[in-house]
Amino acid sequence: KTQGFVIAIDGPAASGKGTLARRLAAHYGLHHLDTGLSYRAVGHAMLKAGSDLSDEMQAIATARDVELAALDRDVLSAHAVGEAASKIAVIAQVRRILVEKQRAFSRKLPGTVLDGRDIGTVVCPEAPVKLYVTASAEVRAQRRYEEEISKGIVADFGRILADIKLRDERDMDRQDSPLKPAQDAYLLDTSKMSIEAAFSAACAIIDRVMAENRI
Ligand code: CDP
Ligand code: CDP
Repeated sequence: KTQGFVIAIDGPAASGKGTLARRLAAHYGLHHLDTGLSYRAVGHAMLKAGSDLSDEMQAIATARDVELAALDRDVLSAHAVGEAASKIAVIAQVRRILVEKQRAFSRKLPGTVLDGRDIGTVVCPEAPVKLYVTASAEVRAQRRYEEEISKGIVADFGRILADIKLRDERDMDRQDSPLKPAQDAYLLDTSKMSIEAAFSAACAIIDRVMAENRI
């Protein structure tokens, strides 16, 4: 089978999985897909149309229209869009449609890095490298707080922390594809790690797997 090398990265909000995925893709010369953006695209379109986020038929139709190549990170980065994304992400049929698009992307050559919540468990269960990136809720809230401050947004740490905990709960407790480490995932707790340290630790794991598999 002609399949490229796939690195699957999962973890909760603001764990640093996106930053890590981008750096790994650049380092190893692989295509990168932030799968959260596809859920955000559905949430964003629903909000814009004034649709009820629990309207499953509307969410399913919206998911069908998502084009992975046409997603605009800036438009989708808003806090409210992340919240909306996590609400439509509980709809099984929405997930099926988006997962199909993500799997097609994962087959690009020479290989891909996908980050999200269910990459190692559902989207690419055959990936030779799976990383589960975590950090304490307090550290993740602090990271988001600093991001907002740097964008000139007046931020409230307590509200950000409460939102992170709520999103963790929604992502971990849902029926379909809950957030959890794949059984063969390497856990990377970045609570006390710089971006650089997390990148080095991930490279050490990936280089070892590549050597073992003669890639
Ligand atoms: O960047 P952040 O971690 O805040 O969120 P994101 O990765 O953009 O994902 C937004 C929401 O989409 C998450 O809270 C999940 O509910 C959902 N999502 C998912 O269910 N499965 C994925 N593979 C990626 C995101
Ligand atoms: O994709 P995800 O929501 O998991 O997180 P991210 O957007 O990659 O990272 C959230 C914030 O944490 C960014 O501002 C990063 O610069 C910062 N950060 C990190 O990613 N990794 C660390 N080890 C420390 C900080």
